This record gives sequence, structure tokens and C-alpha cells, in this order.
Amino acid sequence: MWYEVCDLKRITDLRGDLYVSELGAGLPFAVKRFYILTSFNKQARGFHAHKALHQMAYCLQGHCEFHLDNGDQREVIHLNAYEKGLHIKPATWREMHNFSNDCIILVLASEVYDEADYIRSYDEFLSWVKPT
Ligand code: TYD
Repeated sequence: MWYEVCDLKRITDLRGDLYVSELGAGLPFAVKRFYILTSFNKQARGFHAHKALHQMAYCLQGHCEFHLDNGDQREVIHLNAYEKGLHIKPATWREMHNFSNDCIILVLASEVYDEADYIRSYDEFLSWVKPT
């Protein structure tokens, strides 16, 4: 699959719920960076692809839509629960739309920030994933 939705494992006891993912069990890469998206302003975000970066997105509160595109297929994934992480693989155009006011997104990344890994033009993305 060109993207994956990964379940966290829930451990419940009298004190409440604990949700966990670890390398090889719900977390497909080692994490070198994380960031949080919040205080959305009714504006969509993303509009780029990465050449080599893997990311996992978790919606910790509220809901939003991830629009993914691999050059051939498009998919809209609704994230509305922190039990599920969305694995966005390299060479995937992503846009984030329709955030709820209370939305908080946690993103785990396989590499430190590198602007050279971004493709920020959709036309450039298409010619990169589907060279003629
Ligand atoms: P960007 O990746 O364009 O945000 P989004 O895809 O969510 O719309 O990043 C927005 C700005 O933040 C841009 O100037 C780059 C900077 N940035 C960092 O400095 N470090 C990071 O880890 C990330 C993700 C972004």
C-alpha cells in the first residue's frame, strides 16, 4: 500500500488507557524529529511531497482530512482519533484540509528538517514520480 493507517495498541487498566506504538509494532521508522500543528486558521496546509522522508501523523484532538496523491491514485483520509496513525511515505503529495477548531496534529518524522527534501510544486512532483 502506498500509505498505511497504523493502529496504536491500547493498554487499559483501572487508571485509564495507555496507547503505544514502537519501532516494528505500529511505528515503521525511527523518529528523528516531531512537530505539532495547531491553532489552524481555516487554511489548508501541506501542498508538498518529500523525496525520502517518512512521516506518521496522529490527530490528538479534533479532526481533519489528509488528501494524499501518489501521482496515480488519490485518497482522502479522515483523521479523528489518536488511536490511528497515518503513515505518509516518500513520493506522496499531501494536503491537509478542513481542520476542526480544536484540532491538534502530532507528526513524527524519520529525518531532521531538510528543505532540499521537499517538492513544493505539484507539476514538479508529477514529473519526479512519473518521469517521461
Ligand atoms: P511546512 O512544512 O511548509 O508546513 P505545512 O506542510 O504543514 O504546511 O513548514 C512551515 C514552515 O515551518 C516552513 O517555513 C518550514 C518550517 N519548518 C521547520 O523549520 N522545521 C520543521 O520541522 C517543519 C516541519 C517546518
